[in-house]
Order: sequence, then structure tokens, then C-alpha cells
Amino acid sequence: MCGIIGYTGRLDALNVLLRGLEQLEYRGYDSAGIALLSGKGDDRLLIKKAGPVAALKETCENLKVESHCGIGHTRWATHGGVNDTNAHPHIAGKVTLIHNGIIENYHNLIEKFGFRDLLVSETDTEVAARLLNYYYSGDPYEAIRRTIREITGSYAFCIMFEDIHDKIFCVRNVSPMVAAHMEDGSFVASDVTAVIPYTNRYFVIPEYQIVTLGQDGISVQDFEGNPVSPEMLEVNWNIEAAQKNGFPHFMLKEIHEQPEALRNTITPRLENGLPDFSEDGILDEVLSGCDKIAIVACGTAMYAGMVGKALIEPIIKIPVSVNIASEFRYESPLVDEKTLVLVISQSGETIDTLAALRLSKECGAKVLSIVNVKGSTIARESDYVFYTHAGPEIAVASTKAYMVQLASLYLIGCRMSMARGKFTEAEARTFISRLTDSISAVQKILENKKRIKEAASLVAKAQDAFFVGRGLDYAFSLEGSLKLKEISYIHAEAYAAGELKHGTIALIEKDTPVIAVATQDHIYGKTISNIREVRARGAFVILITKTGAEIPEDICDIHFAVPVSHDQFSVFPVAVILQLLAYYTSDMKGLNVDKPRNLAKSVTVE
Ligand code: M6R
Repeated sequence: MCGIIGYTGRLDALNVLLRGLEQLEYRGYDSAGIALLSGKGDDRLLIKKAGPVAALKETCENLKVESHCGIGHTRWATHGGVNDTNAHPHIAGKVTLIHNGIIENYHNLIEKFGFRDLLVSETDTEVAARLLNYYYSGDPYEAIRRTIREITGSYAFCIMFEDIHDKIFCVRNVSPMVAAHMEDGSFVASDVTAVIPYTNRYFVIPEYQIVTLGQDGISVQDFEGNPVSPEMLEVNWNIEAAQKNGFPHFMLKEIHEQPEALRNTITPRLENGLPDFSEDGILDEVLSGCDKIAIVACGTAMYAGMVGKALIEPIIKIPVSVNIASEFRYESPLVDEKTLVLVISQSGETIDTLAALRLSKECGAKVLSIVNVKGSTIARESDYVFYTHAGPEIAVASTKAYMVQLASLYLIGCRMSMARGKFTEAEARTFISRLTDSISAVQKILENKKRIKEAASLVAKAQDAFFVGRGLDYAFSLEGSLKLKEISYIHAEAYAAGELKHGTIALIEKDTPVIAVATQDHIYGKTISNIREVRARGAFVILITKTGAEIPEDICDIHFAVPVSHDQFSVFPVAVILQLLAYYTSDMKGLNVDKPRNLAKSVTVE
């Protein structure tokens, strides 16, 4: 949450910062601001505005400023409302500061240091700026060390001192930050998307180390002042991947990238038609040595986990639980040395998921994480990492990351079934060939999306919508409903179809949209009966079945058929229909599809 960019070097700092903020806006878009050091005397320029980066950019349009060192921020508000004053950067005396995270003890610090009358904003960040200034008497390292000793919470700080004209100082705990140096200068950012136009080599700023960005290089030292050499990483995608490339929205582009993302995630892990994770360093013992599996994640990633459970548990016949990461820590989870904890996260930075991972390790469990962002905190702290290869996902609503999380769970499920003697080689081979066939099923839906747009025009009129399904179909419906509500603001809920009549059916009125997913042969008849129940109460039914399914007369208003080689694999094409339905609904309502209100891409606060 919150986008951070800092630059010092030969280029025009204002341009670099504004460009970086545009790239990072998906991390938070309540307000944006920049601070520039002029390099002459004590000149410092601060501009901040509530609203999108575009508003900040407009304000900066006719600015004549020569600066080669500055910091910028795009905010997702936690402490204090959305207004110009609460926007970052914050200035206190000689200190200019931007921050991502939450300073938990900021109230105590205000009292302890008597800051109350000095503060102009309602933010926890300004308290940190005050504290830094309180300790600053010419030695930035000393001021940072003493400040950090006082602070509890999570933070990524980017700091400039008024009398140090060409340097930026950074320090972090939990909240992510990366740094990179190239010929034209040094960069810091909350993620690589802002750095990628300049270089593909970067490092993750290690926690509790002080990083100094200078025009000619970056130095890192620990709190005792010893030099540290961080591990350099390389990004394996280019700037085009983080641009819209002709699509009106990132979300639509990312939906269309799914066949490629699936291929990139699945194909390198196949050896002679069977899953092989030797390159990932995941041996069969990891998959066969556990007596239960706990899946832990948030949001869409957690819903991918629901599909994983519905797929894997009946095959391997050991308990598989799906846990909301933010609850996991507080419910005394039944996790021990014999548990394999499967952590799922696109960003690899979701703080609740990270906390659950750490707790699982304390309980003695082995952690295998399914992560999209290389080098992210969750990836680094896991015992084993299974990287998904979706490329950068910029739209706040997750689509291609979900798709490859599913593919990863299918691959892991298959290898696990082999390792535990539940699949013969032939069965595994058939499973994998059905998985690879799913890529063309996804492609087919993309090629025939016009009718989904038509359906969306009817959903767009609704206040409420319901998604129903049984078994695996229920698991996909959960994600379908999240997608619709987060970008179209239509109240949407998913229910196990048989559960409706235990209360929820009271909400069904004439023309209430019900999106019914019925792709599982063994429960098809039962789901159809449940659809009849809502139909009898006037629901507007959009039905999704497998191609060739027998459709009873007058059971639905709109019908989509998905090409599927086996019931277990219907999630892949169905997910695309549900994503496109949400996308078109949001777009037709004229909403900001890629940056829905109140949300941010990467949730790094609890
Ligand atoms: O980066 P993560 O996968 O850990 O993020 C988890 C959720 O915050 C994320 O999936 C969220 O629910 C998306 N907005 C859903 O589209």
C-alpha cells in the first residue's frame, strides 16, 4: 500500500518522480506528492495534492525547477482523511519524509516528545518526521538509528535532509522497498515497476539496514555501521508488460494475457508429460511427508485456495483447510511439524499472509508459497517457493494471478497425488494433459466475449447479485462474486446453491441477477433444482454449464457453455467468463476499472 519513489542523479528529478508515481499509482491513489531538493542553499520544494497522480502532474505542469534529487509518494490513507495536508511528503524542520506502513505507537510518541502543538496533519508519518528532526544534528545515521529504536510498527521510510542536497536515506521494517543504481543515478521504489524503465537489476532493501542513495552509487549499512552487500536480483519482464499496450484498461489486458501466463507457469514444470519441480527445489518428500495441509491467503488468492482444497482433498484424502490469513493468527491454528502450509500471494507482500507464514514456521510447519513477485518478502521467508509466471499484475482486481495460482495448485496437487501413491503415472499424465487443454478453453472464451458484454449490460442495472454453485462450482463462484463487487460496487454474494433456501432466498426478487455455475456432472441435477427455486421467485438467471450439457427449458435467461475436457478443469474457462462479466459491468457503469474506490493493489497494512 502506498507507492514510494526516490531519485538522485543526473536526470531531471521532477520527471523521474512523476513517471514513477504513475507506474506506482496502483498501490494507492488517494493523494500524491513530491519533494525536491534544489541543490542550492536550503531550497526545498513541496507539492502535494489529494486525488490522483494526474492532479499532481497538472499542478507541476508549468513548474520551472532544476532538481536532481527528490522523493514522491502516492497514498492509500490509513491515519487521517484524504486531503492535501495529510498527503506525503511530510516536513518537520530539516527533515522531509515519505512513509508506507503504520506507526503503531505514534500516540505515545506525540506525548513522550511533546509534539502535539507542532503537528499540522493527522498522520502517523508526520510524527516520525518530527522524531527524526528531533534527533537530527548533522548525522543522518544517528538520527535514523535513534528514531527507529523508538518506533514500533511497519514502515518503509524515504528521508531527505535539507542540508544534504544529493542524498536520500531509506530504512524499512516489513513494508517493501527496492533500490537500484544505473549510470544516470540511484532509485528507490516500493516495487520494481517504477525502476524497470531504467534498469532490470535491483535489490530488495534488507530490513533494519540503512540505505544511502547517492548520484554515483548506493551504500548499505547495518545499525552498527558495518557495510552490507545486498543480493542483486534481475527482473525477467520489460516495461511493455507493465503498460496497457492498446487495451483500454490493465484489467482487460491482463485477462487476455491468461493463456500466456498459464503456459509460462505450466510448461517449464513439465518433464515428459508429468509435473517436475526439481528446478523449484521442491522434492517429493515435501509433498508426501505431511499429514495435513493448511492453505493461507487473502482475497482472490484465498479463493484460489478454496478451489485447491475442493480439488486436492478428495484425491489425496488428508485434511486440507483454507484459512483467511488475517484470522489465522488469532484462532490458535492446528499447525505442527506434520503440516504443509501452502501460502498463496500474488504480491508476496500481503502483511496478514506474511504474519501467518511466520506463525506457521514458529509452529514447526514447512511453508511452500505460491508467489508471483520474485524476491518478495513471502518468497524469501518461505521454505519452498513455487513462482507463478503471470508477469506484473497492475489492475487492482486480480485476474491472471488467480489463473496461475489455480494452475499451480493443480500442478502441486498432481505431483502430490503421485508422490503419495494416489495417482499412477498414467493418471497423472491424463490429468496434466487436461490441464494443458484448459489453456485453449480459456482462449476460446476470450475469442467469444461479445455475449458476455451483453450479459453485463443487464447485470449493470442491478443493486445486488448472487453467485451459486455446488462443490468446485461454489469455489469458483466465490471469486466471481468478489470480482463483481470490488470493481462494479454491486453487492454480490456467493452461496453453495443448496444453502440458499436456508435464508438468502428471501433476498431474491424479480430480476435479481443469479449467476449459476453448474459444471459438475455428479451434482448437476441438484444445482438445476436450486436454480428452479430462484427462477420461481423471478430471478434473472445467467447459467454457466459445460458444452453439451442438457439445459432444461426456461431455466435461464442467458446461457454460457464452456469447453471442458473433465469437470475438474472447468474453473479455467469459467473464471474468464466471471472476470469479463465483472469487467464489462464496471466499465459500462463508467467506473474506474483498474483503480476501484477504497482499494489498493498490495495490502501491506493489517
Ligand atoms: O498479493 P496477494 O495475492 O497476497 O493479495 C491478496 C488480496 O489482497 C488480493 O487478491 C485482493 O483480494 C484483490 N483485490 C482481488 O482482486
